[in-house]
Amino acid sequence: MRKKIIAGNWKMNMTPTEARDLLELLKPSLDTKDVDILFCVPAIDLLIAKELLAGTGIEVGAQNMYFEEKGAYTGEISAEMLVDAGVSYVILGHSERRGYFKEDDEMINKKVCKAFESGIIPILCCGESMEQREEGITLEFIRDQIVKDLAGVTKDQVARMIIAYEPIWAIGTGKNATSDQAEEVCAAIRKEIARLYDDDTAQSVRIQYGGSVKSNNAPELFTKANIDGALVGGASLRSEFIQIVNSAKENS
Ligand code: PGA
Repeated sequence: MRKKIIAGNWKMNMTPTEARDLLELLKPSLDTKDVDILFCVPAIDLLIAKELLAGTGIEVGAQNMYFEEKGAYTGEISAEMLVDAGVSYVILGHSERRGYFKEDDEMINKKVCKAFESGIIPILCCGESMEQREEGITLEFIRDQIVKDLAGVTKDQVARMIIAYEPIWAIGTGKNATSDQAEEVCAAIRKEIARLYDDDTAQSVRIQYGGSVKSNNAPELFTKANIDGALVGGASLRSEFIQIVNSAKENS
């Protein structure tokens, strides 16, 4: 049985002061019995989050990193820096990185490989646009992303990672995928992992849904066989996150 994992993706929100206030507000109501909890915070908040969440079992993740070891890459953060800060997860391939910052599958693959090499677990995001869904090429497009982004990744690594299915049209729009739509794609991702690796690997990898997850739609999403949690943007910035975590517990 896969343990569900609920990850908050704060995106470019929360100053260090606000981060402290929010985590202090949420912390007393969160516990990691029957569910894994993770906050993916802006780089400047990582150390504060680590300090405040020490001893709670709640993990801290980054929202991006660069694949090079070190050197003249102004503005970038390396895997080694994240490891030294005690960061255990990193979101890679988010559609906002792919769209606004032109990250392609080749670059995302390099980042995924670097994360594993450094002992950081990637949360690899994939997902289609509305045009692709309307064209009927959703599954084909996502399978292609998975194949490219996981090139050279071993089955032991895939078994430990997180894949987040995030339809672009559902992110920050308030228009979530229905639980059936989300389940269809998450099941297809698992099938693709089985084809690329084997059944055991496919049964181990945790697949989240992300895109306008809220306290009112989370319970139904979490009843689905192939949805192992959620990547939560907007609703992770408020106490609603606690209700989302609790609905994952109820379906554990
Ligand atoms: P949202 O963001 O929950 O605000 O739609 C999800 C995400 O982009 O990870």
